[in-house]
Amino acid sequence: MRLKKVLIGIFSGMFLMGGGYILAQQVTPPTECEIFVEGAKMASVKFSHQKHIEEYKVDCKVCHHKEEDPTKGVQKCSTCHGLTGGTEKAPNAPKNMLAYHKNCIDCHQKVNAEQGKAAPTKCNECHKK
Ligand code: HEC
Ligand code: HEC
Ligand code: HEC
Ligand code: HEC
Repeated sequence: MRLKKVLIGIFSGMFLMGGGYILAQQVTPPTECEIFVEGAKMASVKFSHQKHIEEYKVDCKVCHHKEEDPTKGVQKCSTCHGLTGGTEKAPNAPKNMLAYHKNCIDCHQKVNAEQGKAAPTKCNECHKK
């Protein structure tokens, strides 16, 4: 009996610590993002991260495609998508411009054509000086 109680105590202690750990791991997604990559020629790109999640209802993993669970934290796209190609971490990843343009512009063209939206598709609508 005693042993059982001690074991339950230890297990619930581990569970609570585990729970705390998971809570501490949760990240708050940013409201606005400014994407700027060192050495880029074009002006940086600003967008509402919050609207993409809440209003446009885009799932985290559509963009953070390599994360198991983006609510626990994400890596920067540039960790893998370098300016001229993949990086040491991901040699096969397509370069920054191709990855972003495919992610951002492809969806914008689709929602504009299919849902009559006005998402930006022209260079200077995203790369604003
Ligand atoms: C439309 C695409 C898109 C969606 C949807 C999206 N994100 Fe992001 N998120 C980005 C981009 C792009 C960045 C900037 C990353 C960079 O600079 O490389 C970013 C940045 C972040 C950051 C900050 C990273 C840092 O190091 O500054 C966190 C945290 C994050 N996103 C979590 C989330 C979570 C959680 C969700 C879903 C609830 C989500 N994102 C949905 C594209 C998106
Ligand atoms: C951990 C490394 C890693 C991170 C972080 C990462 N990617 Fe990728 N990405 C890759 C690799 C590797 C590929 C090649 C195909 C594959 O393995 O999925 C790829 C492919 C893509 C593609 C498909 C390109 C094509 O031509 O079909 C898009 C779009 C993309 N990434 C966008 C993003 C965006 C946007 C972010 C940040 C929000 C991001 N990636 C973060 C590694 C990564
Ligand atoms: C899966 C679809 C989807 C993806 C992926 C996506 N967007 Fe959008 N985006 C939208 C929709 C929908 C709108 C709203 C258009 C409207 O209101 O008419 C929008 C609007 C915008 C706007 C104008 C309003 C705002 O939110 O700031 C910007 C800028 C923008 N997107 C940038 C980006 C960038 C940069 C990326 C890639 C990192 C991206 N988007 C990826 C669907 C998407
Ligand atoms: C939907 C938004 C969007 C549109 C439209 C767009 N881009 Fe981009 N582009 C991005 C994002 C996000 C990045 C990654 C951030 C960065 O590197 O500046 C990027 C990266 C780039 C890069 C690589 C980085 C650099 O500056 O050297 C080039 C070049 C580029 N874009 C050129 C263009 C040109 C030219 C057009 C028009 C034909 C265009 N983009 C349209 C969002 C967009």
